[in-house]
This record gives sequence, structure tokens and C-alpha cells, in this order.
Amino acid sequence: MRAQTGSGNPIMIIPLLAILAWLDIQSNQGRTVAMLGGLYRSALAIDLWPIAKQLIVVAIAGAFAVVAFKLARQSASVKAFQVAKVAGHKITRMPSTMPRRLTATVADVLSVRGGVDANGLPLFWLDGKASTVTPLAWTLAVDYANGVEPDKLSRFVPDIENRLYGAGYDVQVRVKDRPLALEIDNPQPPLFALRDWWKGIQAMPQNERLCAPAVEPTAKGMQLVSLPLRNMGAATFVVGMPGAGKTQFILSSVLSLCMANSPQRMSLIVADVKAADTMPLSGLPHMACPVVTDIEQIATMLDALCAEMEQRSLRSAAGDRTWLQHSICVVVDEVAELVLGGKHGDSIANTLQRLTQRGRGLGIILIMATQRVYDVPAKVYTKIDRRCVFRVASASDSVAASGSEGTRCNKLPKRGALEIFSAGDPTAQRAQGLFVADAESPDYESVLSGFIDDIKARWGCMAPGWHYAPVPKAEAPTQVPGDAVVEPGKVHALAAKFGNEFVHPLVDLGDEGNLSAKAVEKTYQQM
Ligand SMILES: Nc1ncnc2c1ncn2[C@@H]1O[C@H](COP(=O)(O)OP(=O)(O)OP(=O)(O)O)[C@@H](O)[C@H]1O
Ligand SMILES: [Mg+2]
Repeated sequence: MRAQTGSGNPIMIIPLLAILAWLDIQSNQGRTVAMLGGLYRSALAIDLWPIAKQLIVVAIAGAFAVVAFKLARQSASVKAFQVAKVAGHKITRMPSTMPRRLTATVADVLSVRGGVDANGLPLFWLDGKASTVTPLAWTLAVDYANGVEPDKLSRFVPDIENRLYGAGYDVQVRVKDRPLALEIDNPQPPLFALRDWWKGIQAMPQNERLCAPAVEPTAKGMQLVSLPLRNMGAATFVVGMPGAGKTQFILSSVLSLCMANSPQRMSLIVADVKAADTMPLSGLPHMACPVVTDIEQIATMLDALCAEMEQRSLRSAAGDRTWLQHSICVVVDEVAELVLGGKHGDSIANTLQRLTQRGRGLGIILIMATQRVYDVPAKVYTKIDRRCVFRVASASDSVAASGSEGTRCNKLPKRGALEIFSAGDPTAQRAQGLFVADAESPDYESVLSGFIDDIKARWGCMAPGWHYAPVPKAEAPTQVPGDAVVEPGKVHALAAKFGNEFVHPLVDLGDEGNLSAKAVEKTYQQM
């Protein structure tokens, strides 16, 4: 059966016109109807043929102008093809799905910058047959004459980028070796949703500490990027300007990690001072405690994690390596908010540094995200081997974030495009983060609950193998009249009596010199 289309029946216009005419006769003595009738009679009297002839001439001239404009735009690439054809090189047309203006611009720069040999023949040219298109990038294969140094191609890159910028493409051009090619990002990559890749994530090997937060192009199409969060990859540093896609990446990392690893084998801690997008993660069965949003609580929790790390180290020295069965994953969004000044800034930076330095061998997984790398002290991230860099503000930000010279993540598209840099691997991996849900959309929580329910369904009611009980926030002790004030430096006596975990947060809360022994005891008893 054919579906009915269209927005209404044109016949309906007749009664409508009749009503309008009647209204005009009633209120306007029918002047409008009379005027329309006069206009209609004058139009019939005009000889339309000369006007139609003029319109036809204008249309033909316009069509010629459009064709001429298109030919002019293609001339650069055509010129490059012709030059190369003269040289007897095998030239093939570029794939039709590549933007013509883009290939023409690159071909032009190659023919100008690449130079010619003694016979005036080009040294570099584009090879359309070997060029490929993926949803993320266009790969323009480059061929070159015998005896030419292919490394020379990278010297043309700034020129190609500048010319492409002029042609409307603010993109990064990467040189690929073997076979020689120029890879150019599609400035508007399609959206890849976690929901569409969830089945693939469910089929991933279990308890291998794998997560799959992104997809990448391969010869067979797009595939999941599966990141092993162990050994050199135990810590991941995520950097990108506001809105680049870091939090979505963190969400897909955590959800895929929890789907592929049982709570018995991996516990999770999430620290997020923004207390917004990651809050629904508290419902995961892997959580060692609900999402921690208070800086003080985060500092205490990281200290407890360091204590666990030390414990593991001691147990290991005594020959007990059973802890290897259980990893603890710490996720910190907006890490700069924690380490930028403040009372706890330095101590949190030191703790994170210790975790990145020693955690790898002791089952600690760390995922940290920041908008600007310069806001985080270098000691916190220099030991991190995996960097996931989204679009950043400048080329120098890109180099600092990736830890590699010559990177230009400032040219990446926004909204989920990233490059993955792993220590020891000179080539960056271009990937696209999986989109989970827009935090501002009204169904955000229910979308996340859907994923969390699937995770719960897989792991049942398993409890996390490592549990953390947040220390209740102590109220500042009130000075009791006549009570002896504890002298600075004497805090250790209180700590010996009431325990470090209780006394040190109080010291942090107030001035050490005003901490009275009685007030501490009173607060201790009230708890
Ligand atoms: N992988 C993606 N695919 C498509 N769109 C995305 C993707 N990641 C993020 N976006 C879009 O960009 C918006 C911002 O993403 P996100 O909150 O992850 O950015 P952010 O880097 O964490 O920003 P901020 O630093 O301000 O927290 C999302 O709401 C979404 O619309
Ligand atoms: Mg964010």
C-alpha cells in the first residue's frame, strides 16, 4: 500500500478564496477583488514572448558561467595530471568520494614544490588508484620518480596545510611511509555511538583489563580500538580543549572496562570535582565507593590508594602475589582542578605522581583527563606512556600533551576526534571516540542506566574486590574555653592517640595552632 504524502488537497483553496472574497465585499466594498481582476486583465494584455526570450538567454549564459567556473577550479589538478602523463608515469584519477578541491590543491602544491627533473618531468605526483577514503580521513597516495628521496615529502606539509587552509580546509596533513601517502582528516567525521558498538564490546575477552573507548579505520572498515590497561598502558593521560570529547571518552572507557572485567577482578574509583557527567557511574557494581566529588575526600581516597599500593609492595616482597588477581582503576576527570593550588594541590600532585610511577606493577590503573596540559605539573604525567590527545588549542599544547615533537592535534576535528600516542611507537593512532550520550539531554541518566543494567546483568551482584569507605567529613573542632591549645608541631601526639586518618583532615580544615586536644577528643567521641 502506498503511504499518503503531501500536506493537503489543493481543491481546499477554492472555499478559502470564496470566504476571503466575501469578507472583502463586506468590509471593503469589494475593492481588493476588483483590483486583482484589473491586474489579471493587464497581465493577459502583455506580450510575454520577448520576456521569455530574454530569460532563456540569461539561463544559457548562466549555465556557461557555471561550467567555466568548474573547469577553472579543476585546472590545477588537470595540469598536474597532464604534466605527469607527459612523463609517461601511470596516472589514475583520484577516488570520486574525495573532495575535488582538496585533491586539486594538494596536486598543485606537489607539482610546484616537488620540482621537475632535467627534462622538466615532475618528481612527485598523486596516485589515485592507491588512494583510499575512510570515514575519518582521506589517504592520498604519493608516487615519486626514480632516485628521488621520499622523505622530502614531509617538507611540503606546511605548504600543503597553508594552501588547504586557503581552500577552506583547516586540517592536519600527516605523512605516511611505505607506501608513501598524505593522510588528511575529514573535518566532519560521522558520529560513532557506543550503543552501536556495545555488542562488539560484550564479545571482548574478559578479565584482560581491556577497554574499548574508540573506533579506528582499517582496510575492512571501522573497528573497535581495544586498549590494554596493563604494563606500559596502565596509565592513560587524556588531554583536549573544552568540548573536545574527553568526558565522553572517559565514559566509554569506564563502561567498556566494566563490561569486560568482573568486579572481583577490578574495582573502580571515580573522582570528579565537576560532579556532573560522571555521577551516574556510581551505579556500577565495580565502584569501590560512590563517585567522589569533594577535593578533601579525593585527597584522602588517593592516600588510601597509595597505602594499598605500599601494602601490595610489602606483600610482594614477602612472596605473596595474590593481589595480582585484582586491579584498582582510578579515573580522574578535570585533574587540573585538583592539583592547581589549593590546600591539597601539592599533596594530590605528589600522590598521583607516586601512582603513575609505581602503580603499573602493582595493579593500579589510572585514567586522568585535563583541558590544558600546562595546568598540570609535569611530574604528574611525564611517566605516563599512553596519551590520548583530542583537539588542543595550539601546536605547542599538542607537543606537550602528546610528548612527541611535530604533532599538530590543534588541527584535529572537534567532537571526539583523537590521536593515541604510545611510548615506543613513533606513529600516532588516529581514532574517533565513542559517543555515549549528551550530558545536557533529558534522557542522559536513563541512557547510562541502560549500559549499567547490561553490566549488572553480566556480573550479577558481585561486590568489588577492593572497597573504600570514605572518611566522614569531620566538623571543625570548636575551641573549649580554658582548653590547652596544641602547639604547632605537636599534632603527631594527637595523631598517635586518635589515629592519622582522623586527625590529619582536622589539621587540614583549620589552623594547626588552634587545634585543641579537648576539641579533637570531643569531635572524636561525637562520631
Ligand atoms: N565521540 C563523540 N562523537 C560525537 N560527538 C561528541 C563526541 N564526544 C563529544 N561529543 C560532543 O561534544 C560535547 C562535549 O563533549 P565532552 O563533554 O566529552 O567534552 P569535554 O572535552 O569533556 O569538555 P569539557 O572540558 O568542557 O568538560 C558532547 O556533549 C557531544 O555533543
Ligand atoms: Mg568534560
